[in-house]
Amino acid sequence: MPRRAKSSSIKNLPPSRSHKKEDILLNVLHKAQQEHGYLSEHVLKQISIEYDIPIARLWGVVKFYTKFRTEPVGRYVIEICTSPSCVLNNGLTVEEHLKQLIGARSGQTSKDGLFTIYRSSCIGCCDEAPAMLINGKPYTRLTVERVTNIINRLREEHANIKADKP
Ligand code: FES
Repeated sequence: MPRRAKSSSIKNLPPSRSHKKEDILLNVLHKAQQEHGYLSEHVLKQISIEYDIPIARLWGVVKFYTKFRTEPVGRYVIEICTSPSCVLNNGLTVEEHLKQLIGARSGQTSKDGLFTIYRSSCIGCCDEAPAMLINGKPYTRLTVERVTNIINRLREEHANIKADKP
């Protein structure tokens, strides 16, 4: 199932009075996204109140940076690099295969709710291209076979977690 923003507070975020608001805005949004999976309207309203920042300003920042998400995402967020080094090293073939494997297009979540895939600019692994991030962890030297193994392993991992739950 896609991760839903929790209704919990934003108590783990940096205190609003310790720095200038604008200086810490990106950090606050990033941490909120890590905690909730995405930046829902509810979460942005909480941040707006806590940090006394107009909600329109928050939406402007969130929409400007492609790293911020405003929709629920899957358990595993895949960011496949489509910058030149990766593309020149068969990255588009790998991306296409990956999308077929999970059954979702860029910006979509798979029907089982496990995977959300996005295209990304360079993630700093050009010397080991093609590359992607899954939940922030880099996977490099990707091939069709390697991507298949990675996705199968994550599906297994998820099935085991579900089986362990009472
Ligand atoms: S171009 Fe893909 S990691 Fe740099």
